[in-house]
Amino acid sequence: MISARPASFSRVTITELMIPSYANFGGKIHGGILLSLMDKVAYATASKHSGAYCVTVSVDTVDFLEPVEVGELVSLMASVNYVGNSSMIIGIKIISENVKTGNVKHTNTCYFTMVAKGEDDKPTTVPQLILENKTDVRRFVEAIYRKKFKRDYEVNLNEIKKSWDKQEIATLLENERCITQLK
Ligand SMILES: CC(C)(COP(=O)(O)OP(=O)(O)OC[C@H]1O[C@@H](n2cnc3c(N)ncnc32)[C@H](O)[C@@H]1OP(=O)(O)O)[C@@H](O)C(=O)NCCC(=O)NCCS
Repeated sequence: MISARPASFSRVTITELMIPSYANFGGKIHGGILLSLMDKVAYATASKHSGAYCVTVSVDTVDFLEPVEVGELVSLMASVNYVGNSSMIIGIKIISENVKTGNVKHTNTCYFTMVAKGEDDKPTTVPQLILENKTDVRRFVEAIYRKKFKRDYEVNLNEIKKSWDKQEIATLLENERCITQLK
């Protein structure tokens, strides 16, 4: 197995024209179409880096901030931001371009965690990541923090769930748009 590869080796861009059959009832592009493209580009990038079959384990910060219209060209630019032992975090920047006006929207940036699998269907070690410039270093370090914040979030939420009481719940729900009708 190759022991290390630079992020530049596996960078992948997919560009796809948004055709009418991709639209929802409101005439905008279905979120599911975009998710499927994200998964494809994440797979392409992860499998190129690892030289292995990969699976999607986790998807972070998928926020649809801008609607995408039929006729626009959507480009998804992906690169390996971080590698663990068998896991890789793939950063994906998505832009949508109106070819008539030249207007380009940055619709979102998200992070897919992919795991490489060996012939035995078990997680397998991937090549180390060679960081060739400041951007590669920034992305790798950001990924370390994202992983840490995600772990902390789980731990904090579990702690809170263990200790919350009826009064605290009542206070929390006071200003929310819900009606409590316990049966
Ligand atoms: C992902 C999967 C291989 C993990 O298997 P496992 O036996 O738990 O293996 P491990 O605990 O050794 O985890 C493997 C890696 O996944 C990472 N991982 C596991 N769960 C994770 C999660 N929720 N978020 C991020 N990373 C995760 C681990 O940190 C580990 O990374 P590392 O090797 O870089 O340290 C297994 O859960 C699986 O096959 N899931 C289904 C994937 C799938 O079908 N996806 C959709 C279709 S492609």
